[in-house]
Amino acid sequence: MAIEVAVVPVAGRGTRLLPLTKSQPKEMLPVGQKPVVQYVAEELLLSGVRRLLFVTGPGKTAIENHFDINEGLIQNLRENGQEDLLETLDYEREEVDYFYTRQRRQLGLGHAVLCARPVVAHQPFVVALGDSIIGLHAQSQIVRRMTGIFEREKADAVIAFERVLPEDVVHYGIAEVRNEEDDFFELASLVEKPAVTEAPSCLAVAARYVFQPRIFDYLERTAAGKGNEIQLTDAIGSLIADGGRVLGVTLSAAERRFDIGNFPSYFQAFFEFAMEDPQYGEELRGFAKKILERGR
Ligand code: UTP
Repeated sequence: MAIEVAVVPVAGRGTRLLPLTKSQPKEMLPVGQKPVVQYVAEELLLSGVRRLLFVTGPGKTAIENHFDINEGLIQNLRENGQEDLLETLDYEREEVDYFYTRQRRQLGLGHAVLCARPVVAHQPFVVALGDSIIGLHAQSQIVRRMTGIFEREKADAVIAFERVLPEDVVHYGIAEVRNEEDDFFELASLVEKPAVTEAPSCLAVAARYVFQPRIFDYLERTAAGKGNEIQLTDAIGSLIADGGRVLGVTLSAAERRFDIGNFPSYFQAFFEFAMEDPQYGEELRGFAKKILERGR
């Protein structure tokens, strides 16, 4: 059975991006010409997922507005002869069903996923973090690859991993690998933010997951952990400990993760997307070159 639904958690507070995120969702921050969540939706569509369930929270209505069809705006552009700009709104007409539910208290990512349970119910589903883009301009089919492996291997979960520098393991959930196969590996455990000397690998969890609905049972039983939040990685850890078949897929170089959760990686993402912009990239590259030549 094809996986139809993706849960997109977008309810987090985004405190690491203050003051930018005081009154706007980090998931709506611009990266080049589009806001982050639009790339996430486009990526999911490219992978064949056509039902998106956003888990939203306070101050996040801009996300719902972004995916609505704005007839008034379309009419206006037509009347003003700005037909060329209409193309930028084509995404509004994609054949996607959007659903929204609320995380009424921000108790962590694991809790946000659990909020999707009444809607997702008994079907397998994707989780795509709303603050991360995979691949330049979201041109990746990582989720399609993951759902393929999930079905073929009859897995309980498939998780995307990215190879990071050894000194960076302290920021991520890190994989302990059991068996390596051709296009996936089996997880022995997931270690949350290990010290450099204790990290079992340099493979960091990278914002995309596929789950059987039984993950909800583990999330229900997961107590608040790090940061007093219900952690998705803790629930995955319990699933593995119970003998669950949890697999990892490594992102290729073309499927890099752009994390919009902190300033250094947000700046890098914006910079790279703008530099590679088909319309304005060339001019910007010239400008950047001039600045760099001028020195500081
Ligand atoms: P983060 O782990 O970056 O947390 O969220 P955060 O709360 O948004 O940001 P900081 O740590 O305060 O800076 C990863 C994804 O999970 C969602 C976020 O919206 C983001 O897309 N999330 C996180 C929720 O939906 N609910 C939560 O309670 C926490």
